[in-house]
Amino acid sequence: MAAAITATDLVKVYGRGVAQVRALDGVSVAFGRARLTAIVGPSGSGKSTLMQCLAGLDTPTSGRVLLGDVDVTALSDRRLTRLRLDRVGFVFQSFNLLPQLTARENILLPAALAGRSVDKGRFRDLVDMLGIGDRLRHLPSELSGGQQQRVAIARAMLGRPEVIFADEPTGNLDSASSDQVLELLRTAVRDLGQTTVMVTHDQTAASFADQVITMADGRVAA
Ligand SMILES: Nc1ncnc2c1ncn2[C@@H]1O[C@H](COP(=O)(O)OP(=O)(O)O)[C@@H](O)[C@H]1O
Ligand SMILES: [Mg+2]
Repeated sequence: MAAAITATDLVKVYGRGVAQVRALDGVSVAFGRARLTAIVGPSGSGKSTLMQCLAGLDTPTSGRVLLGDVDVTALSDRRLTRLRLDRVGFVFQSFNLLPQLTARENILLPAALAGRSVDKGRFRDLVDMLGIGDRLRHLPSELSGGQQQRVAIARAMLGRPEVIFADEPTGNLDSASSDQVLELLRTAVRDLGQTTVMVTHDQTAASFADQVITMADGRVAA
């Protein structure tokens, strides 16, 4: 099966001299199309850095990332921004909601930036499924961590992007909400053929995945 995302020999070095950290130390990995892949491993093993490099949010020190047949590491900033808007959804570990926008506005922002029309039925279904239908007028500061996380998930999924990257998407949720989010991600993989890569600490979350990649010390250990 054709890979949706291929990383080859990714190296990411932060800092210099004695403060230098090799966050990624030669990672080569392929993610199948329409597959849910979990990335697991101890804290500091390079999971978030790998996701940022795969998504074109961070530039590897060396190595290559292909999204389909596009070399993400070779794109200009303008093309990279366009690619992210059109083809990729993210759920960040820190949510990255805009504090001055309401939940609704945050969810609609990527579509607005990309100049895309919004499927109102899809919007309703998502916010209902995520249980945030009565929170849409609130600012992020007025929401709990779990609610902010669900707003971030709705924002990432609304446009049905080809690829979703999610860093600890269930990290702030109780087990019932967590199962709902995982179900939602699974459904998107199955029904929309969406390729999903998810970092997780959670064994249950990993058990929802088709493929599990274990990181250790900036390398793929298994
Ligand atoms: N912006 C940064 N500057 C310096 N070091 C960083 C930065 N981001 C991550 N690191 C370091 O890179 C390593 C991998 O971090 P990270 O990818 O966040 O791991 P994980 O997500 O598995 O916890 C850690 O040692 C971390 O301290
Ligand atoms: Mg992390």
